[in-house]
Amino acid sequence: TLAADLTGRHVVVSAGGTREALDPVRFLGNRSSGRQGYALAATAVARGARVTLVSANVALPAPAGADVIPVTSAVEMREAVLAAAADADAVVMAAAVADFRPDTKAAGKIKKTGGPPPTITLVENPDILAELSRNRPRKDQVIVGFAAETENAVAYGRDKLQRKGCDLIVVNQVGEGIAFGTPDNEAVVLDRDGRAVEIPRGPKENLADRVWDLVVERLGSVSKT
Ligand code: C5P
Repeated sequence: TLAADLTGRHVVVSAGGTREALDPVRFLGNRSSGRQGYALAATAVARGARVTLVSANVALPAPAGADVIPVTSAVEMREAVLAAAADADAVVMAAAVADFRPDTKAAGKIKKTGGPPPTITLVENPDILAELSRNRPRKDQVIVGFAAETENAVAYGRDKLQRKGCDLIVVNQVGEGIAFGTPDNEAVVLDRDGRAVEIPRGPKENLADRVWDLVVERLGSVSKT
């Protein structure tokens, strides 16, 4: 897209995967590479936005022109996203946020004792997307979630859109060498009005641009330039 249609807008993107500490050296994590979130940040910069990129454990070069806020855990990501979202026109939660974290972080490295293996008790993490959607700092803010599903993707996606209360949800077909850790992605974007927009398999930058097209559409025709 050549149009600088995000000029004057502040957008927040979360990327990567959170790590939930078990002890000083171990964590529960996931396979998110951060590529889709970084592509969203880079394309938003290219379209003229001020971009805050809340980045969890990503081994990629920072996109030029984006304000990168590094975080580790879901709780840290919540703080950073809510703070950045206060004056944002749009928030895109592309990060894979752990639904659960260990209830305690051991002070020292967990050791073998010769006895039975330790039990890990999990507690639920805050749902950042749901919380933000419920308590929008601005009524006109556009909030986008992601849903990685292996089966019945669109049906689960519709349900997730309702439960989280966001405006758009990007439903990823994961598996078979697509999505996590790969340069390509494909998705169906669902909105609150029952519309489904298919984005065919292609580079994550292409999917990112299509997502921004839909965000721009929802932001309305009021130009900030
Ligand atoms: O429920 P699920 O993890 O599948 O939802 C995925 C979407 O919700 C993603 O946009 C993700 O960034 C967001 N999420 C969140 N906080 C959580 C879990 C997921 O914001 N604790």
